[in-house]
Amino acid sequence: MKPSLISIAMCCLSAWAQADSLKISCGAVGQELTLCKQAVAQWSKKTGHEVQVVATPNDSNDRLALYQQILGSGSDKIDVLQIDVVWPGILASHLADLKPLTAGREQQHFAGIVANNTVGGRLVAMPWFTDAGLLYYRKDLLAKYRQAVPDTWAALTATARKIQDGERAAGNDKMWGYVWQGRAYEGLSCDALEWLVSHHGGTILDSSGKSAVNNPQAARALTMAAGWVGSISPKAVLNYGEEEARGVFQAGNAVFMRNWPYAWALAQKADSAVQGRVGVVALPKGGADGRHAATLGGWQLAVSRYAKNPRLAADLVLYLTSSEVQKQRALSASYNPTIGALYSDPDILRANPFIGELYHSMSNAVARPSAISGRRYNQLSNQFWNAVHDVLAGKSDAATALQQLDVSLKRMAPAGFRAGK
Ligand code: GLC
Repeated sequence: MKPSLISIAMCCLSAWAQADSLKISCGAVGQELTLCKQAVAQWSKKTGHEVQVVATPNDSNDRLALYQQILGSGSDKIDVLQIDVVWPGILASHLADLKPLTAGREQQHFAGIVANNTVGGRLVAMPWFTDAGLLYYRKDLLAKYRQAVPDTWAALTATARKIQDGERAAGNDKMWGYVWQGRAYEGLSCDALEWLVSHHGGTILDSSGKSAVNNPQAARALTMAAGWVGSISPKAVLNYGEEEARGVFQAGNAVFMRNWPYAWALAQKADSAVQGRVGVVALPKGGADGRHAATLGGWQLAVSRYAKNPRLAADLVLYLTSSEVQKQRALSASYNPTIGALYSDPDILRANPFIGELYHSMSNAVARPSAISGRRYNQLSNQFWNAVHDVLAGKSDAATALQQLDVSLKRMAPAGFRAGK
């Protein structure tokens, strides 16, 4: 049977449409996937191009492994990738330079993030949202037990204990003092960096790229955290990521939680057991002489070098990272914008009071040592989170674990880590 004109037209039209369709990978933590789909649909409607949204694993390092597999084979399976703030150095060689395609739009975004996303003079990703570690607390429980919002980890530990004991005695045997991210993954590197820095225990590497983990303040920080496991934090915290911690807190079963800004909007929703009862402050200091420390997180959008239509992919990236979409995301899901001007937007500040109140602490967030370790950041972080996890799980004491970590880091990079190496 001869193909009809209609079927030929259909075939060729769909091939043509195929050429102009895109695939984007988005995160799926909290409301990420829903929001990504919404904004992508808006762009599709505007431009007439079809986009397929692909969900990726929640743990950042699992997502990296998936991307490395896809990009390593030169595949065009994904055109636009959501990438972690610590990956530009790792993935740069697989990503397109967006600079010629942005018409200078990156200048609206925080300069520090743009610099982070610029590798060898190439802009490998546009900033999408920024993150910083925060302390969430139950306002109602602190008031009930007449406790102040803790300013040091010691105060947090004592308050968590007191309220946990009180609530359990009153019949709530599910109550825990403090939930956080203790699984052996990238999230633990973020939490542990906060413990270290709040005790003046350094940032894993020094500014010349040499190991800086073997010091008594860092050991003190890890010993403190190990002491929480099984006391104010459930043993299961050793397998918690962001979403597990949020699940416990949002169900009303924890006094304190360490998490990123996205947890705010979800805690305020009608189906949250803690709606209207949550406060947010900077994470506690290591002691009276310690400092508040928040790890810098955040996600970018990049275009794969193997994308068939990089111009179109860049257009989608520019739309998704635009002020309009960042505002929608901040209002409906408390994602922190990367565009400075949005920090004085009254709607955003009303929806997320902590964005204004904690601006200083969030804009001084501590970077993980990814710029200096470049392509080797993930290996380095993997060593760090495993060492920390051993201490938390009681397999090693902090001083020994840090000493061994120091040896492995020196073995990995005898002359120190250097970007690009
Ligand atoms: C958040 C941060 C990201 C970090 C991850 C760790 O998604 O934005 O930078 O790597 O948490 O779990």
